[in-house]
Amino acid sequence: MDGRDLVRSVKAVGSGGAAQGLRTVRAAWRRRRTDAIGLARRGAERARVPGPVQEAVPGPGGGVVRFARAELRITVAVTGAVFWGWDGAGPEPSYALAGRCPRPDPRAALEPDKDGGWRVVAERVTVVVSRHGAVEVRTPGGVILRRDLPPRWWEPVDGGTARWMQRSEVPSDARFFGLGGRAAGPRLRDGTYRLWNTDPGQPFAPGDDPLYITMPVQMVVADAATHLVFHDTSWDGTVTLREGREGAGSGHDRAGVCEVRMDGGPLRCWVIVGTPARVLRVWASLTGAPALPPAWALGHHHARWGFGSEQEVRRIVAGYQERDLALDAVHLDIDHYDGHRVFTADRDRFPKLPSLAQELRRDGIRLVSIVDPAVKAEPGNAVYDSGSAEDAFVRDASGRIVEGVVWPGDSVYPDFTDPRVRRWWGGLYEERLGQGFSGFWHDMNEPVSFTAFGENTLPRSARHSLEGRGGDHREGHNVYALGMARAAFEGLRALVPEERPFLFSRSGWAGMQRYGGSWSGDVATGWPGLRASLSLVMGLGLCGVPYSGPDVGGFDGSPSPELYLRWFQLASYLPLFRTHASLRAGRREPWEFGDEVLEHARVALAERRRLLPYFVTLAHLARRTGAPYVRPLWWSNPENRELRDCEDAFLLGDSLLVAPVLEAGVRRRTVLLPRGRWYDTSTEVAYRGPAHVEVDAPLGRVPVFARAGAVLPVQGEDGGLALEVWAPARGRSGGGLVVPDAGDGWAEPEIERYVTRWKGRKLVIRRDGEGDGGEPARPVRLRGLGHA
Ligand code: NOJ
Repeated sequence: MDGRDLVRSVKAVGSGGAAQGLRTVRAAWRRRRTDAIGLARRGAERARVPGPVQEAVPGPGGGVVRFARAELRITVAVTGAVFWGWDGAGPEPSYALAGRCPRPDPRAALEPDKDGGWRVVAERVTVVVSRHGAVEVRTPGGVILRRDLPPRWWEPVDGGTARWMQRSEVPSDARFFGLGGRAAGPRLRDGTYRLWNTDPGQPFAPGDDPLYITMPVQMVVADAATHLVFHDTSWDGTVTLREGREGAGSGHDRAGVCEVRMDGGPLRCWVIVGTPARVLRVWASLTGAPALPPAWALGHHHARWGFGSEQEVRRIVAGYQERDLALDAVHLDIDHYDGHRVFTADRDRFPKLPSLAQELRRDGIRLVSIVDPAVKAEPGNAVYDSGSAEDAFVRDASGRIVEGVVWPGDSVYPDFTDPRVRRWWGGLYEERLGQGFSGFWHDMNEPVSFTAFGENTLPRSARHSLEGRGGDHREGHNVYALGMARAAFEGLRALVPEERPFLFSRSGWAGMQRYGGSWSGDVATGWPGLRASLSLVMGLGLCGVPYSGPDVGGFDGSPSPELYLRWFQLASYLPLFRTHASLRAGRREPWEFGDEVLEHARVALAERRRLLPYFVTLAHLARRTGAPYVRPLWWSNPENRELRDCEDAFLLGDSLLVAPVLEAGVRRRTVLLPRGRWYDTSTEVAYRGPAHVEVDAPLGRVPVFARAGAVLPVQGEDGGLALEVWAPARGRSGGGLVVPDAGDGWAEPEIERYVTRWKGRKLVIRRDGEGDGGEPARPVRLRGLGHA
């Protein structure tokens, strides 16, 4: 036990009393013992590299290249995604893929290259394999985007899982993004990033790594093209990144370097090349379309650990209503459980949840429930009893059920990698639906077991079904929460087939967007935490998870009124707009920070409500195209290096650019605008990008720009859908897509396309596809005319 561990165990004692503290000590020893018995000690290892090429066998979409000591399979899929796997690794089985892997492109096949190498030429990408097993990804024009050096394996002499290392070079101008939710992004600077979903055990800020969602997914943006690379392996590992440098004058360029090291699992990867939009479209086709949140989930949510009673929930809701502040959902944390037992409610403090839910629903407010995976190990606890009868809980190598410690005390963990267990767990949401909950918030699912020392999760030797293949926690850990999300999603679909499930999860892995979104976990209250929370939303979006958002105000302590307001304003432009804080934190209601903050929060809430149709459209487009709502400034101009390095502003869809205030005392700020014409939405002054412009950022608002020509769906004064049209520059045209809300079911609304252009001195708006007479049926508000 080192100093940090000691602090942790003291904290654990503090949060749950002495008994809980002792439990964490016992659990930590138990975990150690379990692994000492269950995991073979790593003995001597033998290193291996592929060696010289021997032969190649072409096949559909690519083929197999054999080396003296390894074999490489390459397949280009019809979608343009490239797969390669060493030593017989194919694309399946995979937790990331949404279904069967895409068909091979019949036009692509292995052909000889120079120097004894081989290549596959496809429409959008060329893959070249050297005779020693280096793999290059090139644009059709021949520019190298990525060069994987021959990999290296370390194999235990006595058999067992090999570790491996893959070093790659990328262009010297490239920037790295992604790897899941990282606090120090969105641009991932030089350093080592671990791939092991982790509850840091305390609120996090930039510099804390890893966090709850790690993914071996990198987005690499360079002048020549953007590419996404996904190492499809759920084992523990690290990614070490070093950005390149261009040689000044006659100096040589230094390539960017990425080194992936894995403790096990197949060495296989997918690479997708193209524009950022295309890369994410193909990624979504591979790993699944993002689930579509219901419209209410795009409104404002209020959560709190420690409402403590139905009366307090009513009091907070009334506080919003009396002040005429928009509220769309209230989240109940673990304190509404009976003794912290999942799928229960405390009968004294929350005796009539269904009535409360009904009451709130009449006022347009939904109830969302936290769901933790750990089940209190206690005969008589119905979930424990039914799980035991189902043989649902994770066991160790000797067959004993693994016990950890979470909020309810000694707890056991469902094995979500088992389809049978997922079915059982999915059925348990019936109890929650009966209580009136409309949405679900998955927590503690890295999974967490509090500990006095060592790692705060299950023993590495704990056994998992892994869809019947069998394996241990080293492989199952990172996909545990993904399995939990799948269980809930499928269970809810079966229980309420006519409604789309709404869930979001603290932990997850590649493909989690199929089931729902995420939130940024316990972000530390402070200006660095505010910045970190934006980094997480952007990073997750670039990994295919478009719906997420922070705890407004931060999780712990008490934000200053200014910090609270700036957080509130930022989150009002993020997909999940949720106020939340810890049990012991200060209040987070907008009226707790003085009248000035309250008035400014009211403006932010009203603007969010006004933009709701835009958020609904962005949610539909994310589902159909994989494009996140929140995008880095370089989204449409990845070749602009300055934009790649800009981390303090973002695009919200195609039409808006949001420049939040991320520092104390700032009332004016510089904004980097991408190419094109942009209006400051508060003054309607037009600017021409690319440019740095300085604009006011008074306490009452953060700068937001609209793209000239944009057609933005907004809520009109009568509550119906209206179009806000930002004048294109004279002689130019514009347009936009609108997807109207079609309710909480599965109906597919039609996309409305609008175009806007000047006809003499008149600006005309037409619904596309309806000829020149296609007047929009929706009210239109023209903006920016005075400055066009
Ligand atoms: C940890 C979560 O991150 C936090 O949001 C929640 O309030 C606590 N667990 C208690 O459930």
